[in-house]
Amino acid sequence: MKKFVLRNGEVASVLGLLKADVYVDNGVIVKVSSDVGKAGKSDFEEIDCSSKVVMPGVIDVHVHFREPGEAYKEDFETGSAAAVWGGVTTVFDMPNNKPPTSSIAALKAKRKLIAGRSFCNYGFYILFDGNNIEEINRASGICGVKVYCAHSTGNMGVFENSLEKAFKEIRRDKVLVFHSEDENCIEENKKAYLAEFEGREVPASVHSKIRDGKCALMMTQKLCELAKKYKRPIHIAHVSTDAEMDLIEQYREFGVTCEVTPHHLVFADDDYEYFGNLIKVNPPIRERSDIFGLWKHLKMGNIDLIASDHAPHALVEKELPYVDAPAGIAGVQTMLPIFLNSVNDEGLSFGELVRFCCALPAEIFGLKSKGKIEEGYDADIVVVDMEKEKTFRREDVLSKCGFSPYVGNLYKGWPVKIFVGGELVCDEGKIIGKKVGKEVF
Ligand code: NCD
Ligand code: ZN
Repeated sequence: MKKFVLRNGEVASVLGLLKADVYVDNGVIVKVSSDVGKAGKSDFEEIDCSSKVVMPGVIDVHVHFREPGEAYKEDFETGSAAAVWGGVTTVFDMPNNKPPTSSIAALKAKRKLIAGRSFCNYGFYILFDGNNIEEINRASGICGVKVYCAHSTGNMGVFENSLEKAFKEIRRDKVLVFHSEDENCIEENKKAYLAEFEGREVPASVHSKIRDGKCALMMTQKLCELAKKYKRPIHIAHVSTDAEMDLIEQYREFGVTCEVTPHHLVFADDDYEYFGNLIKVNPPIRERSDIFGLWKHLKMGNIDLIASDHAPHALVEKELPYVDAPAGIAGVQTMLPIFLNSVNDEGLSFGELVRFCCALPAEIFGLKSKGKIEEGYDADIVVVDMEKEKTFRREDVLSKCGFSPYVGNLYKGWPVKIFVGGELVCDEGKIIGKKVGKEVF
């Protein structure tokens, strides 16, 4: 499908919806015309989008597609299929791989491994391991540098004294992305709480007590102070508490940006009773008051973007006792449906949705030709049916892990056609296209 026009749809931008025809030629949007329905360029194949919304493909800046090293949990083929099915056309993949993506050689090997195997576009992070600044500074074509301030999956936390080095010595053209929890704080809590259980089975809910909101706030405060001291913008991944958001607000002028995940906007600690380890994640699920606080900050525009932190694990791993079960929730496939449903519920506007999921991710990470439906932009486009109601079923899960805590939920508003670089990759819930995804940097 080289030349086509998406006819008669409502085109979504940060300003809201406007009826327009979108012309695509050779993977690029060549014209957005509000002169709707007037077949101007007749050699463009017509695709009727009446009563549909035409929005930019979602850019998810935080996924773990597990290659190299843990392809039994997910691989780029299954992860990217899940992404496009859910309207995500570009992902940035995290570096906590086996081996970690912390050197130019590892980056090169990862590029070679993934090339030609992704349905969606992609970028790669490099890991800061405390000792690899020279490698990071020589690396090109990366979406950013990931810094784990506390251990999470893969135990890649760096010690506090190397944090300052990252601010000082990493080249300023690299976006620094932080997992913000304080390792010492977690360790102290862990000793105290696990001692309480002495040999008895520890319930998953203890996760939220061990890695409590204070541990996250403490590190977010340190990172904000460092951003101020070194006059260096930073991006804080998956902010999970209202208190951190109140704090970040005071540091916006120093270029602190942040993201929130769907799971921190949906689940609360009283959900452990039903889900157990399925919602064990870092940073953990918080109290209901934090959900309210995060939604408030999202609506106020204080949170820059939404990212899935798609972190799949095998079900047998999740079924282990709490202390042995890995942390992480698979969420790339359901992120857009969850927020389309919010648009239907009038929780979010389409303008906000496009801002959080498309425009700001592109702007903050410097993707110049993505995140908008405008002339000259890449034809990464999602056609949405806001009237469609559907329950997310277990058989819909395309992620290799095969389960999701969102299974059983009814959402109204679904992506129906997903174009990546002008190719129709997913149509009415079926992956029909080729692996056309390209590296974006
Ligand atoms: C992530 C994973 O499993 O890779 N888990 C998680 O709980 N978010 C690691 C991480 O980013 O913390
Ligand atoms: Zn993550």
